[in-house]
Amino acid sequence: MNNVKRAIYPGTFDPITLGHVDIIERAAFLFDEVVVTVARNIGKQPLFSVEERMDMIRESVRHLPGVQVDNFDGLIVDYAKKTGARAMIRGLRAMSDFEYEFQMALVNRTLYPDMVQVFLMPHEAYTHLNSTVVREVATFQGDVSPFVSAYVVKKLKEKLEK
Ligand code: COA
Repeated sequence: MNNVKRAIYPGTFDPITLGHVDIIERAAFLFDEVVVTVARNIGKQPLFSVEERMDMIRESVRHLPGVQVDNFDGLIVDYAKKTGARAMIRGLRAMSDFEYEFQMALVNRTLYPDMVQVFLMPHEAYTHLNSTVVREVATFQGDVSPFVSAYVVKKLKEKLEK
């Protein structure tokens, strides 16, 4: 029997921040395999392509051996079924995340009752952070190094100078 405990961590990751990395580190502590999956949020028009986002994630999780990077365009529960993942990670930064997460968790649970949803709290240094804020600071040439890895700083510069 396969006892590998695999979890997926879906998101837009446009781009991955240190707050996401914090969640991935916590998930890697709990699971044998964590697959960070670039998924589609139909309400968002990302700045970076799927490939660019996956590349930045790979660079940001190099230090974590059990972590893989993938992408999926469709329902996240279908991705979980396809890959055999029985757990899904979500980060909860503040109370304001709760309502959206609660709704999404109940929809996902209705669609795939066998999947367990695990909510992890990032370090308090990252509770105010999201990818939009990072893109906005970078757009106006602000210093984003407290929020993202050095590699992502470089990729943001390249993208926004184009
Ligand atoms: N640190 C820093 N920022 C964080 C964070 C953390 N730990 N956790 C979340 N964020 C940020 C994200 O960067 C994102 O920022 P943005 O809105 O500025 O882009 C924001 O918080 C919201 O993140 P999240 O709730 O993870 O949304 P998302 O867009 O990244 O991911 C999907 C949503 C992709 C997982 C969801 O739309 C999905 O499952 N799509 C597939 C289709 C599907 O199954 N839909 C049905 C769902 S019920």
